[in-house]
Amino acid sequence: MRIAVVGSGYVGLVAGACFADMGHDVVVVDNDQNKLAALKNGQVPIHENFLPELLSRHRGQRLQFSDDLQGAVRQSAAIFVAVGTPPTESGEADLSYVESVARELSGAVDGYKVVVEKSTVPVYTSEWVRKIILRNGTDPEKFDVASNPEFLREGSAVTDFLFPDRIVIGCDSHRAAEVLREIYLPLTSGQYYERVDAIPQPDRASIPAPIIVTSTKSAELIKHASNAFLAMKISFINAVASVCESVGADVSQVAHGIGTDSRIGPRFLSPGIGYGGSCFPKDVMAFRIVARECGYEFRLLDEIMHINEDQRQRFLRKVRNALWTLRGKRLAVLGLAFKGGTDDIRESPALLIVQALLQEGSKITAYDPAAMERVRETLGSSITYANSAYEAAHGADALLLLTEWEEFANLDLKRLRQELKYAIVIDGRNLYDPEVMSAHGITYYSVGRPACLPDGVPAAALKNGKKA
Ligand code: UDX
Ligand code: UDX
Repeated sequence: MRIAVVGSGYVGLVAGACFADMGHDVVVVDNDQNKLAALKNGQVPIHENFLPELLSRHRGQRLQFSDDLQGAVRQSAAIFVAVGTPPTESGEADLSYVESVARELSGAVDGYKVVVEKSTVPVYTSEWVRKIILRNGTDPEKFDVASNPEFLREGSAVTDFLFPDRIVIGCDSHRAAEVLREIYLPLTSGQYYERVDAIPQPDRASIPAPIIVTSTKSAELIKHASNAFLAMKISFINAVASVCESVGADVSQVAHGIGTDSRIGPRFLSPGIGYGGSCFPKDVMAFRIVARECGYEFRLLDEIMHINEDQRQRFLRKVRNALWTLRGKRLAVLGLAFKGGTDDIRESPALLIVQALLQEGSKITAYDPAAMERVRETLGSSITYANSAYEAAHGADALLLLTEWEEFANLDLKRLRQELKYAIVIDGRNLYDPEVMSAHGITYYSVGRPACLPDGVPAAALKNGKKA
């Protein structure tokens, strides 16, 4: 199949590279010349597992990069639209990029094409895209608009794409469904997984990939509802963690206890400093607004956002309670990306916490395995950048764990303790067992679990860590 993917961001680039690996001829279109030049030159603009391998495997062969949208449309049977849909000031999704792509591609529809929404868009977007294409003079018989939402997590986007829990195809015509079924056939037939050079299968993969065909509107809603539900799971466990802190219970035991109920499931029940990233914050907000426009006040979504915001404030209070005053304190920060495994700092709760601490007069030395360059562009020299976790910890009054990178869960605690001026760790991601920390002489605060003093005395007596 010949496929065009419009937008070479986190979603478009991964989709393009994966379609090429599935055997299709792909042209990825972008209007950012610098990005295109870098991609053509062999650079990989984002930190994403397996993406460098796929790009070097297919670049210049089954995978081309271009700024010519109309040329790409003419040579393709399906056009996946993966341009950004950032939030406007009022929180709605800004669909102007999607609209301009729809307008521009109209002039190039010279045979039957399926225009596929890949970006997260509100319900009814497909109808608008259709109207725009028709308004620009395209024959209604020559195209269909479909929705094929992505469920890619940054960091594992390539394996999420090639080993999906499900592929959702939303279309209102049999013809469009057939085109999309054919595109995904290597995954739904299982043929891709038999190849010796296939990307390795992750745990929990259900192969061959199941496919769900729905109406276009249902598919659009599946995307918003999925992200809102996952955000709800995170806010729910964060709220439970707050109750645990009040009564001295342990949220990891509670999460295990509820997550083993197969109706609930164990995933996305890790408490922390709140969800971030380019999707959950904007999608929960956008879904709230879309629901209102459609006549339903989805107040549950307000509470999900409220708990998420509150979770950051609670963490900041924990830092103040552990250290008393913050002005002039030297804090080591591990993790700046919005989660582990990515260099993405969009809506990163770690970064928001760093900014709040700077405002309170702390001095920050930070380390992140992948996100430092991007943070430098935002924070400049207002923080110090370290080359390792230990260098960040050196001479610090306390260490803050803000992103769930695997390497931060495996630190040499003896060395860490030696580097720190005071052996205090405030963990926003529950990466350590409190008893292990106290056995290493570290005063340890985490989320939804009793704080621990070096001698192993749980700091229940220090209700909320307030005692000096
Ligand atoms: C995607 C989805 O589009 C968004 O809806 C989803 O919720 C999150 O992921 P992402 O891939 O992260 O967004 O976006 P971004 O990294 O901003 O990439 C978009 C690309 O589209 C950029 O490279 C931009 O240059 C390109 N673009 C944008 C175009 O080629 N044409 C345009 O008109 C606008
Ligand atoms: C998410 C969805 O998972 C994906 O299906 C969708 O297509 C895009 O949005 P992503 O934003 O890459 O993916 O990250 P995800 O792994 O979902 O994490 C989002 C945020 O929630 C991160 O800040 C993460 O740290 C946080 N999180 C996640 C928790 O705090 N606890 C959890 O249990 C899981």
